[in-house]
Amino acid sequence: MKLWRKHSQEEIFSSFGWWDKGCFLRQMTGDRCDYIQSRVERVLGAGSLQDLHILEVGCGGGLICEEMARRGATMTGVDPSEQALQAAREHAARGDLADHITYTHGYAESLPCETGQFQAVVCLDVLEHVKDLRLTIQEIARVLAPGGVFVFDTINRTLLARVLLIWYGEHFPSGGLVPGLHDYNAFIKPAELQCLLEGTEFQVQELTGFMPRGQVRGHFRMGPGWFKGVAYVGYAIKPAERTARVSVRQPCLFVFWRHRAFFQGFGERLS
Ligand SMILES: C[S@@+](CC[C@H](N)C(=O)[O-])C[C@H]1O[C@@H](n2cnc3c(N)ncnc32)[C@H](O)[C@@H]1O
Repeated sequence: MKLWRKHSQEEIFSSFGWWDKGCFLRQMTGDRCDYIQSRVERVLGAGSLQDLHILEVGCGGGLICEEMARRGATMTGVDPSEQALQAAREHAARGDLADHITYTHGYAESLPCETGQFQAVVCLDVLEHVKDLRLTIQEIARVLAPGGVFVFDTINRTLLARVLLIWYGEHFPSGGLVPGLHDYNAFIKPAELQCLLEGTEFQVQELTGFMPRGQVRGHFRMGPGWFKGVAYVGYAIKPAERTARVSVRQPCLFVFWRHRAFFQGFGERLS
């Protein structure tokens, strides 16, 4: 693939170097899984990871599935890219993890899973790539068992994220950042995600920055922290019983999110 030409996200993920040593996603996998493990155990109890069946929505080449399987979980990974799934299956087989991970073709918007099947669902670096975010959140809520936990991370729609990940990342491709990988308009503001989650029966427990926390062997360690200007992480629970809540904040934020292109254009006309 020529790096300087813009490719579609489907093309990019079909030939992505998931397991390359320089791949940023791979370098952050341990840090991302530390966050998943700590929040899953916070909700479901210490040691709950052992034999817990977790769904990863948008598993790509299997980075998260493998690391979580190594920590004791049984993983199901769903992704629309057959090539990514093939890379994931081959890598899991080489690492003797094939018995602990099932890879399945599918889309976040219509998950090939039973209602209430999982106690934990994770979705890392995917929400900014799906076609329909609202349907995705609804599907995750559907397949999660009452009392279950949803852990996620994504990218904030800020000028800084645009500069770092699109302008700089696309002009100086490295670590898997290539032209076409990201669409600025698909980045998500934390308030928009919170609104969608709360409008889909989730109770958001945390939404916080995911930021550099020092260096280890030449690359940044990432972890939760105050700065949400580029990436952020969070977790939400699906209540054991459905609670009826009336709030004007959620519909307002939803209208804002649905018409964000208009509000962005309005802001640009004013500046
Ligand atoms: C940046 S990768 C993240 C992969 C993996 N979660 C990780 O963190 O290593 C984004 C993944 O989302 C997948 N994806 C894109 N659209 C999707 C959709 N509608 N439903 C599920 N996955 C999707 C892509 O195929 C790709 O594998």
